[in-house]
Amino acid sequence: MAGESRRGRVLALYHLKGGVGKTTAAVNLAYLSAASGLKTLICDLDPQSSTTYFFRVKPALKHARRVLLKGGASVADNIKGTDYEGLDLLPADWSLRHLPSLLGRVKRSKRRLREILDPFRGEYDLIVLDSPATATLLAECIFVAADMLLVPVVPSTLAARAYANLRLFLRRKGYDEAKVWGFFSMVEARKKMHQATMQAMREQFPQWLPATIPYTVDVESMGLARAPLPVRSPRAVATRRFRELWEQVAGRMDGRDPETDPWVRSFPVREVLE
Ligand SMILES: Nc1ncnc2c1ncn2[C@@H]1O[C@H](COP(=O)(O)OP(=O)(O)OP(=O)(O)O)[C@@H](O)[C@H]1O
Ligand SMILES: [Mg+2]
Repeated sequence: MAGESRRGRVLALYHLKGGVGKTTAAVNLAYLSAASGLKTLICDLDPQSSTTYFFRVKPALKHARRVLLKGGASVADNIKGTDYEGLDLLPADWSLRHLPSLLGRVKRSKRRLREILDPFRGEYDLIVLDSPATATLLAECIFVAADMLLVPVVPSTLAARAYANLRLFLRRKGYDEAKVWGFFSMVEARKKMHQATMQAMREQFPQWLPATIPYTVDVESMGLARAPLPVRSPRAVATRRFRELWEQVAGRMDGRDPETDPWVRSFPVREVLE
């Protein structure tokens, strides 16, 4: 990915569902990307601004929504360095709660985020988007902007239904489902229901990355430490799993292994919903 003809990829952590581990994965994957030598930008698109908090950045301006509508120098001026080499952050603030409705007033609104990020693909190898749980116009902007849409799924009650809803939403809107990959998040291995749900969902839907992220105290306490897991708990089991996840994401984005794991485009999403 690196080199003179740099053309950064966009990886979005997204789900309709809240509290599934989007921010946790975005922070750890962005860190691991930078640690692997890729120049990385993480964009916090959520008014909750958890990613911004994780990286201990206080945005100077309280107008992140304007930054994301205007683009160009406005974005460049607001990108902050983090404590980690090769990792920059575009912070969020509470004003982003208005972003979905403001986007509705912009021409070619669904392409807006893609167009705003485009110039930065020349500067970064990877751009990670931390999305809020939303099905608004902002979600569609994220689908258009992303080269890979990574969906954390907690294998609990109604997980399959929520995931089916998401895939149906993407299909109805005509988005490329080949860029959607799921992984299981906050997995409690002792829970039979989690095991059964993971097995059933792997059979029902295509494109699961094999890495699963366990539910552990180490991950939970990342919010207290305000540091990526590999920094705070380098030897933790969950750190190893996030490293595996990163390897698999990087492999997918480089288009490796297409024959052994072909993308399946057609599956019976309706059956899950009915
Ligand atoms: N693997 C895990 N083990 C234990 N706790 C976790 C794990 N992953 C996430 N958490 C905790 O669960 C909560 C939700 O995680 P996170 O903020 O990453 O989810 P999210 O999908 O980004 O939520 P939101 O939709 O609100 O943005 C946080 O308190 C986080 O610390
Ligand atoms: Mg979040």
